[in-house]
Amino acid sequence: MSITVELPVTNDQYAVFGDPISHSKSPRIHQLFAQQTAQALHYQAKQVSAEQFNEAVEDFFSQGGKGLNCTAPLKELAWQRADALTDAARLAKAVNTLKRLADGRLQGDNTDGAGLIKDLMLNHALPLHAASILLLGAGGASRGIIGPLLAQSPKRLVIANRTLDKATALAAEFNQPLLVASGFEALQGQQFDLILNATSASLTGELPALPAGILAAEGSCYDLAYANTATPFVSWGRSQNAAKSLDGLGMLVEQAAAAFYLWRGIYPDTASVITLLNAERNAY
Ligand code: ATR
Repeated sequence: MSITVELPVTNDQYAVFGDPISHSKSPRIHQLFAQQTAQALHYQAKQVSAEQFNEAVEDFFSQGGKGLNCTAPLKELAWQRADALTDAARLAKAVNTLKRLADGRLQGDNTDGAGLIKDLMLNHALPLHAASILLLGAGGASRGIIGPLLAQSPKRLVIANRTLDKATALAAEFNQPLLVASGFEALQGQQFDLILNATSASLTGELPALPAGILAAEGSCYDLAYANTATPFVSWGRSQNAAKSLDGLGMLVEQAAAAFYLWRGIYPDTASVITLLNAERNAY
């Protein structure tokens, strides 16, 4: 007669750190991915300030944590903390995903740009090749997506920012002729096929000041932020008769899927998760 010994099952631990974090959808998304792919893991959201970051990271990984997502305002700190960087993270100077390697070192990746490109091109069939693209904002959110956008060979990519100097400095880092910096007022008379909002204006219910007629006929709008109701920028896009005016929920799910793949080696289905999360925010 054989004896079966039931070993205690301890699920692999993952988390997202940020400040604020209470409204994060990441635990739900990773739980859905885990169910779908039959992976035993636990993913929690933890409020961690910039001051607490380094200690919280050591704590988490010394207790056996396998992987960590970092959101605002911690992505640059995570980039500094990582022992090794992927090309995407090096280019973005920001890390949204940390993975503990077999030797204990922490690898930093940035899946935001890839997540955005997947959502734009695969989920929404928005062409980027040869498109005129306007990127609003010159902060960390913009920095993370410029490389992946340029990789799609747009016709031009204009970074417009309230503070022109920041846009100029950011554009200079990439040193590509099709990438130019602009203030908002100088956009008068120009038209774009796609306008991406990477400012933090949505968080305070504000909107960058854009001239009328800036969106080309059949052009689309995309807000990297997301909310349970339309963000001010999504509403603005609708008022400009955008072919599509989208928020960043799809990007959120896609960047999570890329992180999940990095950690678990299995790519979850994102479409079903996006459909579910959209259905849950029925006011949208
Ligand atoms: P993040 O990491 O989210 O990009 P950030 O680095 O603080 O945050 O950058 C915020 C961006 O949003 C900046 O480009 C900022 O413009 P400034 O550089 O001029 O400050 C932009 N921003 C924030 N509030 C804005 C508003 N009300 N109108 C226009 N741009 C705004």
